[in-house]
Amino acid sequence: MRYEFLSVGSGDAGKMQELTEINSAVRVRRVRAADISHVIALDTRVTKIAKAEYWNDIFRRYGKQRNSERFFLVAEGRAEGAGPGFLGFIIGEVRAWEFGSSPCGWVFALSVEPKARLHGIGSALLEAISAEFRKAGVGKMRTMVARDGRLPLLFFRSEGMIAGPYIQLEKDLD
Ligand SMILES: CC(C)(COP(=O)(O)OP(=O)(O)OC[C@H]1O[C@@H](n2cnc3c(N)ncnc32)[C@H](O)[C@@H]1OP(=O)(O)O)[C@@H](O)C(=O)NCCC(=O)NCCS
Repeated sequence: MRYEFLSVGSGDAGKMQELTEINSAVRVRRVRAADISHVIALDTRVTKIAKAEYWNDIFRRYGKQRNSERFFLVAEGRAEGAGPGFLGFIIGEVRAWEFGSSPCGWVFALSVEPKARLHGIGSALLEAISAEFRKAGVGKMRTMVARDGRLPLLFFRSEGMIAGPYIQLEKDLD
C-alpha cells in the first residue's frame, strides 16, 4: 500500500500539531518533544553516528520557534512492514538572500524508518513540507545530496527535483 498525501490543516500558530492526514493509518504533523528520542534513534540506526546533542539543538531551533518559516514534521502511524508509531521525519526552512538567492525553501534532513520505506512516506513528508513552503510564500524548494548518494538522488529525482543553478565549492583548511 502507498500512503498518499491528502491535505494540510495547520490551524493557528499556537495549535499547529495536526498537519496532514495521509490516510487513516499514517499522518504527518509537527514535531513534539516526545518525538526527539525517536528521531535520534532512527538517525543513529541509519547513519551509524549518534548525535543526540545535535538533534536536541535542532529541536530547539526548528521545532519550537519561527513556526511560519521553520518546519520540523514527523510521520507517525501504522505502515506496512513497520509496527505502529514513529515512521520518519523531515526538516526544512525558508531561507532568504543567501548566496544572492531570493527566498526559497530548503530541506536539510529527511529520514524514513527502513522497515516502512517504499510505501510513499518519504513522498508524503516532502509533499507536506512543500505545502508549508507554498503557504510561507515561496515557489522554489532546494536540497543538497552527495554525488554518490544514489538513494536520495533516486528519491529526489522521482519527486521532480533537478540540478539547480548553484554549484558547491570547498577546500581543505590546513
Ligand atoms: C530517501 C527516503 C527518505 C525515501 O523514503 P521512502 O518512504 O522509502 O520513499 P517513497 O516510498 O515515498 O518513494 C518515493 C519514490 O522515490 C524513489 N525511491 C525511493 N526509494 C527508492 C529505492 N530504494 N530505489 C529506487 N527508487 C527509490 C521511487 O521512485 C519512489 O517511488 P515509487 O515507489 O513509486 O517507485 C528513505 O529511503 C530514507 O530515509 N533514506 C535514508 C536517508 C536519506 O537518504 N535521506 C535523504 C537525504 S537527507
